[in-house]
Amino acid sequence: MSPENKRSTPYFSNGDTTIQTKPFPVRGERANYVNSPHVIAMVGLPARGKTYISKKLSRYLNWIGINTKVFNLGEYRRHATSAYKSHEFFRPDNKEAMAIRTQCALDALNDVCSWLENGGEVAVFDATNSTKDRRRLIHNIVVEKMGFKLFFVESVCDDPTLIEQNIMEVKVSSPDYTNMNAETVLNDFLLRIEHYKEKYEPLDETLEAGLSFMKIYNTGEKVVVHKHEGHIQSRIVYYLMNIHIVPRTIYLTRHGESEQNLEGRIGGDSDLSARGRQYGNALSQFIISQNIPHLRVWTSWLKRTIQTVSGIPAPQERWKALNEIDAGICEEMTYEEIASKYPDDFAARDQNKFTYRYPRGESYEDLVARLEPVIMELERQGNVLVVSHQAVIRCLLAYFTDKSSELDLTNGNWDSNGFVDDDDNSRSLDELPYLEVPLHTVIKLTPVAYGCRMELLKLPIEAVDTHRPKPEIPGTLDEKFKNDLQKACSGGYFFTGIGGLKRHFDMMTINVVSVSFSEV
Ligand code: ATP
Ligand code: F6P
Repeated sequence: MSPENKRSTPYFSNGDTTIQTKPFPVRGERANYVNSPHVIAMVGLPARGKTYISKKLSRYLNWIGINTKVFNLGEYRRHATSAYKSHEFFRPDNKEAMAIRTQCALDALNDVCSWLENGGEVAVFDATNSTKDRRRLIHNIVVEKMGFKLFFVESVCDDPTLIEQNIMEVKVSSPDYTNMNAETVLNDFLLRIEHYKEKYEPLDETLEAGLSFMKIYNTGEKVVVHKHEGHIQSRIVYYLMNIHIVPRTIYLTRHGESEQNLEGRIGGDSDLSARGRQYGNALSQFIISQNIPHLRVWTSWLKRTIQTVSGIPAPQERWKALNEIDAGICEEMTYEEIASKYPDDFAARDQNKFTYRYPRGESYEDLVARLEPVIMELERQGNVLVVSHQAVIRCLLAYFTDKSSELDLTNGNWDSNGFVDDDDNSRSLDELPYLEVPLHTVIKLTPVAYGCRMELLKLPIEAVDTHRPKPEIPGTLDEKFKNDLQKACSGGYFFTGIGGLKRHFDMMTINVVSVSFSEV
């Protein structure tokens, strides 16, 4: 559904004056629906990181399995009018523009409500919401009319250098400013902020005592939490208290090839193969050559990851949570042995690999839950090299690349602005367990603007390919995989390509801003 193609009966409209006059609830009167859909409404002046926080929060919530979508009011405004010529559009006394802006807010809220009624769990309303009146309107619609939960997140920032930096980083490339030079954009945007400041009312614990909210000062220097309630809000508060915007790089890699990789056996705790040890050496040299300040190295508890990093001169930590997926009764078997001994299980896994749990073992879904503390700690850290395993790296990559926000909804897909996209219903969380993460490849992730730049660095040491693609018929081993496995088992080897991984990420537009490939 495009913005022009809205539902015929809106949940409310500009003419619905009752929604504008109801008072805020007072202490103790709030409804407490444990599993109600949530609206997270951002608050703050322009260039305070609201979109950044919205996108990042949405990525996290989707990854932990909470179906979340961002509704960005700027996009609604750009769809509604091409009238933006300069900061004048945002003058509080510009009546015509103000009417457009109010209508856009109502349209966006209408879509928020519609989306939540159709299976969405958390809608992030990314707008300035910078006056008490606007917040009262949101409260009346979201809480009073719809019965949803509402949590405001305000970003307060008074550091002029950071604000200028933000404008230069993201606003210069905004569709509002096509073909304008950076200096003109900066001046116009600073004037836009001044217009907002005329009416800006920060969230107020006394005057808005009934609202649930958190305020983040200067990117987390101080955080104030007011009346947060329930599980989802607690997780949001905890997550947003941990993120930071200091530049850093995260390196992800699997261990070097192991003895059991050579035999096509899954799980276990075997040593590195000769080529695996070579990879360990090459990885150390590569890391040393990068000269990474204050690097920390994290491995699992398993020998193959610990052996891989033995030559890296940096502080090392072992995480049990980084251990490979537990294959339960299938540990140390080949896929062929599993297919023959447990054909029903083997086929069931192919039918839904994300939720399938090995008997007495784990599923990918379990793995994501196990990895949440790792993600939280990664968010708090600076430069980190994570050396782990195929399934674990798939889950971590899905977090950094927003793979999990592509969940299908029962009534269609929604694009990043919350509009239904009827064209493509096929990309989903189902892809996560099939992401190709070859051995002997370093994935370098550098946060930029709203996403991250991903570089795939192939170190020149051959290794077996442990990736088993999704078969056409569940429970079968495709011929190519069988041949490859035979080659591996008979002592031969083949070179793992990065083409497959490239194919996956070529399709990604949401969070990965650029992908590059090279052989080191
Ligand atoms: P607008 O109201 O114009 O949409 P915005 O508040 O949504 O602006 P963003 O577009 O999100 O601002 O700004 C992105 C920049 O903000 C990034 O460069 C990011 O590093 C930075 N940023 C992220 N979090 C914060 C924060 N808590 N305070 C200030 N800046 C932040
Ligand atoms: O084959 C290597 C390995 O890391 C196994 O230990 C693990 O069970 C498997 O990959 C996970 O991949 P998949 O989920 O595709 O079987």
